[in-house]
Amino acid sequence: MKKFFAEISRSAGPVRVTLMFLLPFLFALTIFLFLLIAWEKKKMDEDQLSELKETAKAFFELIMITRIWNAQHGGVYVEVTPDTPPNPYLDIPDRDIVSVAGKKYTKINPAYMTRQLSEIANQRHGYKFHIVSLKPVNPYNVPDEWERNTLKTFERGISSESVTVFRGYDGSRVFKYLVPLRIEEPCLKCHSKHGYSYGDIKGGIDISIPMEKSDLIHSMKLRRTVISLLIVGAVSIVFVTAITLYLSRRLSLEIERNIEREKLAAIVELAGATAHEMRQPMTVVYNLVALLREKFKDNEPVTKEEMDIFDDQCERMNNIIQKMLNITSYKTKDYIKGKKIIDLDESSMTEDPDEKA
Ligand code: HEC
Repeated sequence: MKKFFAEISRSAGPVRVTLMFLLPFLFALTIFLFLLIAWEKKKMDEDQLSELKETAKAFFELIMITRIWNAQHGGVYVEVTPDTPPNPYLDIPDRDIVSVAGKKYTKINPAYMTRQLSEIANQRHGYKFHIVSLKPVNPYNVPDEWERNTLKTFERGISSESVTVFRGYDGSRVFKYLVPLRIEEPCLKCHSKHGYSYGDIKGGIDISIPMEKSDLIHSMKLRRTVISLLIVGAVSIVFVTAITLYLSRRLSLEIERNIEREKLAAIVELAGATAHEMRQPMTVVYNLVALLREKFKDNEPVTKEEMDIFDDQCERMNNIIQKMLNITSYKTKDYIKGKKIIDLDESSMTEDPDEKA
């Protein structure tokens, strides 16, 4: 790892090293952020739907309370107006009555009341609720396709509530929540004659909530999350860049220093090797010169053997110099006290000078 670093540091420099390490980091960070954002979005969508479901449920409870109240009274009488004509589907003898003062009243059954309440809710908040049935008495209560399929799953006992999101032509979304309406005791007053008994599913109530406002809030939330994640990403990029730059700069300095140290060590080892190799022939030559000086003094002749020793030692020194000139690699051997010197034979090309010559 260190060698690898040394190699690229020498050839590239800290800035390029930083870039080389930063690119994979950026790549990983981008993927990580992308996945995180996708996961956040998924979670937020789920949260949004469960929030809407809670709203729809609360709404449903309130509608149920008013419906049960109405059913407990077997329907309630209200004054007949153009907006509230008698219900043609309510088939009971005392549907319409006239007060002593001559005012006309008509009985409002829960389904009729629910329709009118829905109109008010729609005007106020855009919420809608609609009673549907697989066998409707009133054609107004015919379910759409999703409602029909869902009602069938209710009847088969597969589920007891269902949610979906519809997209309108204008692109706005509508959240729909459908729950079954079961026949309870007070409902039998009117529905036993349609063949229903206690606990049967008469139909369902479908609550629609426009999602514009909720979508707006959620897209704002998502944008906030994305922005904060991007800020965190940007800060970590700056941080990692700074750290990598700092470290690679320090490392390349350290490497340069090491190289200097190695160079110095090589010089010392070469000097050691030279000193070691040259010492012996030099000593011989010195001694020989001292001997010859003595001989000259006494006028004694110099022998051929002595001149041969001279020659040999000079050649030996020459070989050593030749080896030093031919150093091509760096090989050391142990010297005294743990010191190392260059192994001239191993390091020079001419391992056997006699052979070369
Ligand atoms: C006072 C009589 C009366 C009572 C009480 C009553 N209903 Fe109804 N219900 C009707 C009539 C009439 C219709 C059909 C016409 C309409 O839409 O108003 C109807 C329609 C419905 C529908 C829509 C399907 C259709 O047939 O058009 C459902 C669902 C329903 N009732 C469930 C119930 C439940 C549940 C209860 C008990 C909480 C209940 N009703 C109590 C008279 C009544």
